Amino acid sequence: MKSCLICKSPIEPFINFGNMPLGNGFLLPEQFGDEYHFPMRVGFCAACGMVQLLDQPDRERMFHENYAFFSGTSRYMAHHFRAFADQVITSRLPGKDPFVVEMGSNDGIMLQNFAASGIRHLGIEPSKNVAQVAIEKGITTITDFFDADVARRIVAEHGQADAFLAANVMCHIPYLHSIVEGIGILLKPTGVAMFEDPYLGDVIEKTSYDQIYDEHTFLFSVASISYLFEQYGMEVIDVQPQTTHGGSMRYVIAHKGALPVLPHVAAQKKKEQDIGLHLPETYSRFRRNCESSREHLMALLRDLKSRGKRVVGYGATSKSTTIINYCGITPDLVEFISDTTPIKQGKFSPGAHIPVRPYEEFVQNYPDFALLFAWNHVHEIMEKEESFRVGGGKWIVYVPQVAILD
Ligand code: SAH
Ligand code: TMP
Ligand code: ZN
Repeated sequence: MKSCLICKSPIEPFINFGNMPLGNGFLLPEQFGDEYHFPMRVGFCAACGMVQLLDQPDRERMFHENYAFFSGTSRYMAHHFRAFADQVITSRLPGKDPFVVEMGSNDGIMLQNFAASGIRHLGIEPSKNVAQVAIEKGITTITDFFDADVARRIVAEHGQADAFLAANVMCHIPYLHSIVEGIGILLKPTGVAMFEDPYLGDVIEKTSYDQIYDEHTFLFSVASISYLFEQYGMEVIDVQPQTTHGGSMRYVIAHKGALPVLPHVAAQKKKEQDIGLHLPETYSRFRRNCESSREHLMALLRDLKSRGKRVVGYGATSKSTTIINYCGITPDLVEFISDTTPIKQGKFSPGAHIPVRPYEEFVQNYPDFALLFAWNHVHEIMEKEESFRVGGGKWIVYVPQVAILD
């Protein structure tokens, strides 16, 4: 039996997705032969509340010099991170010469706002190609995996930080104890850590099981995050729900007793109890919902194929790897996936090997149906793709339910 990565209690899977490739493992035909797979099973720890993968691929397999995810591909996310940075700048950097550290700073989408305001900052980003983009923008970045040792080195070199930021990366990290210890070392006595990740409550309520893939080791809740940080003398002082990535939660953390705890922390914990996030049966129900979502999506795609309709995927997201391979979507059902990221174009999707083509091919020859794999960017995409819809094109979505949009 596996043990919980957070509290070491024994833990069993509530869903088994089978052998999965890496979510961002877009590849060329000559690599098909030795494509890497890992057993993707998810468990819920009833002792500490953490939902987690039971097996993780080595981190160097996922985060490296050819990492395929560039944060800057979404205009909406750039705007989101500007607002995040503004919140930090106006309310969390009281003293002179403040210092901000970001873990998983990627191409600098967040830190560029601090750099533009002349604020002392440091990005820690192990994937060399994306880190290089940030460095070229003038953002101070070190190419490394953050952990407690790196935190000690940063303090020795730059002093403690006023703010430690992280977006869509805390949940990636199986060795989370070392990260949380590092945050405790790094933060000034009244400093704050602010991080956001896809929220367990949204995943359960929307059956958005595509948030589960190799990079997402954990799905956090306020309850599980509180448990974890309390072990290191810190506490959650605020929680702020976000609409990004299909429903995320921003957690604000401080050293215990250093700053006031806002009332919505308790309110959100109560809400988690109300929707049953602490109960094993919630996760059995979630599994049944995933199975039924899969049946509906496959029935729809098979029906469209039998009627001779063309279906193209929109957005070669890492999340889509779970949908495609769990449902069994093959290139005869989805002709290709359109994506704007050059590093993905000309490659094939992990596992099912559906071709990934430049966005222009979608525009030049609209399909009958577009399967919205990038559903978390739905507003930005609907606005941009008005002419597809006006020309009679239809969108297929699968969150919160499988449906054809009118
Ligand atoms: N913050 C960005 C990027 C999220 S993708 C955004 O929200 O858009 C996750 C990033 O975290 C990747 O760029 C990956 O290389 C990086 N990462 C993974 N493990 C890390 C670690 N231990 N320390 C710092 N960065 C890490
Ligand atoms: P994400 O869901 O992990 O943010 O990844 C989004 C992917 O979708 C990324 O590969 C870029 C692609 N994309 C498009 O192709 N067109 C778009 O309009 C948007 C917003 C994203
Ligand atoms: Zn646990």
